[in-house]
Amino acid sequence: MEKMIKQYLFTPGPTPIPSEVVAAMSQPIIHHRTAPFSRAFEEVRRGLRKLFGTKNDVLILASSGTGAMEAGVSNLLSPGEKALVVNGGKFGERWLRICRAYGIEAVEIKVEWGKAVKVEAVAKALKDHADTRALLIQASETSTSVLHPVREIAKLTQNGPLLVVDGITAVGVLPMPQDQWGIDVLITGSQKALMLPPGLGFIALNDRARQRVESSKSPRFYFDLRLERKSQNNGETAFTPAISLILGLRAALDLIEKEGLEQVYKRHDRLARATRAAVAALGLKLLAPEDPSPALTGLYVPGKIDGGKLLDYMLHDMGIAFAGGQDHLVGKILRIAHLGYLGSFDVLMGIGALEMALKKFGYKVALGQGVGAAQEVLMEALNG
Ligand SMILES: Cc1ncc(COP(=O)(O)O)c(C=O)c1O
Repeated sequence: MEKMIKQYLFTPGPTPIPSEVVAAMSQPIIHHRTAPFSRAFEEVRRGLRKLFGTKNDVLILASSGTGAMEAGVSNLLSPGEKALVVNGGKFGERWLRICRAYGIEAVEIKVEWGKAVKVEAVAKALKDHADTRALLIQASETSTSVLHPVREIAKLTQNGPLLVVDGITAVGVLPMPQDQWGIDVLITGSQKALMLPPGLGFIALNDRARQRVESSKSPRFYFDLRLERKSQNNGETAFTPAISLILGLRAALDLIEKEGLEQVYKRHDRLARATRAAVAALGLKLLAPEDPSPALTGLYVPGKIDGGKLLDYMLHDMGIAFAGGQDHLVGKILRIAHLGYLGSFDVLMGIGALEMALKKFGYKVALGQGVGAAQEVLMEALNG
C-alpha cells in the first residue's frame, strides 16, 4: 500500500496547467498546413501581441526559453562585436555563455546575487563601452528572485545599443509593455506565466532590431529569424510547429484575456506580497528584500537546516515542489514560485506546508504564523 500524496508545483517553471489548456492540447493532432491550424495560429499571434504590449510580430519557436535567447544573440550580434551583459545570477550567466559560444565579446556588469543592477552602473558601462552593440538583461532573474529595473534601463538604450530582455519569468507576471518602454527585443517561454508545458520560446523584435537581423554574420539555421518572420507572417512556421502546444497556447491566452491583464498582474503582485509577508512573519530572511520579483520569492533556510534535505522531504513526504538554490546557494535557500496558474489558496497551501516542514526539521514556529500573515494580504482579493 502507498500513501496518497497529491503533488503541487511551486517551481518557477514548469508551472501548473489549467484544465482548459490540458483539454486543448489533448485534441487529436491536426496538420499544420490546414485552415483550422492557421486560424489558431493567427489568434495566438494576436493574443501574444497584446501580452507583449507590441505591434511587432511575436515569433513562436519550438524550443525552450533558452532557444529564444540563443536566437536573440545569433540574429542580433556578429562574431567580434561587443555586448554588455547584466550578470546577477544563473540566467545572466547564460547570456554570457551564449554570447561566448558565438564569438561575441561579452562584457559583464556583475551584480551581487540577490540584488538588482543599479541603473547608474548600467549608464557607466554604456559610457565606458560606447562600441557595445547590445545590452542583455533578465527582467526577473529567476535564480535569485530579483527584479531588474528594465523600464529605467530602457531609457538609457534608446538610439543606443539594442536592449534585449529575457522576460521569461516576467512577461505575463508584471507589466512589461515592449513598445511603450522601448524594449528592442523581448523574450519569454511557455512553461511560466503562460501556463503551458515547456516547449515554446517567444521573441518579439522592433524595427531597429529587425534591421540588425538582416546584417548579422553569425551562423543561423533553425533559429534564422528572417525565415521565421517571413513564414509566420504567412500563417505558418518555417519548420513543423509544436502544434499541440500552440492549441494549448490559444486556450491559455483566452484565459488571460478573460481575467484581464490588469487583474493578472494584480494577482501576481498580491501572491508575491502575501508570500513575503509570510516569510517575515516566520522570522525568515528574504534573498532579495529590496528588489523582489513578483514571480517568485527566494528565502534563506534558517539555522543549520540543510535546504536540500528540507526540499526532498517536502517533495517526497508532502508532495510540495519548491525550488532550491544554485551554485553557492545550494542547500541555503528555497524559492517559492507564484507565477502562472496559481491563486490565493495555493499560496496558503505552500506556506502551510513550509511551516510544517520547518517544524519537523526543528525550527521554532507556531503553526499558522505565516499562513495568517499571508491571509491578511490575500483578504484584499475578497474585499477589492
Ligand atoms: C529568467 C530565465 N531565463 C531563462 C530561462 C531558461 O529557460 P528554459 O529553461 O525554458 O530554456 C529560465 C528558466 O527558468 C529563466 O527563468
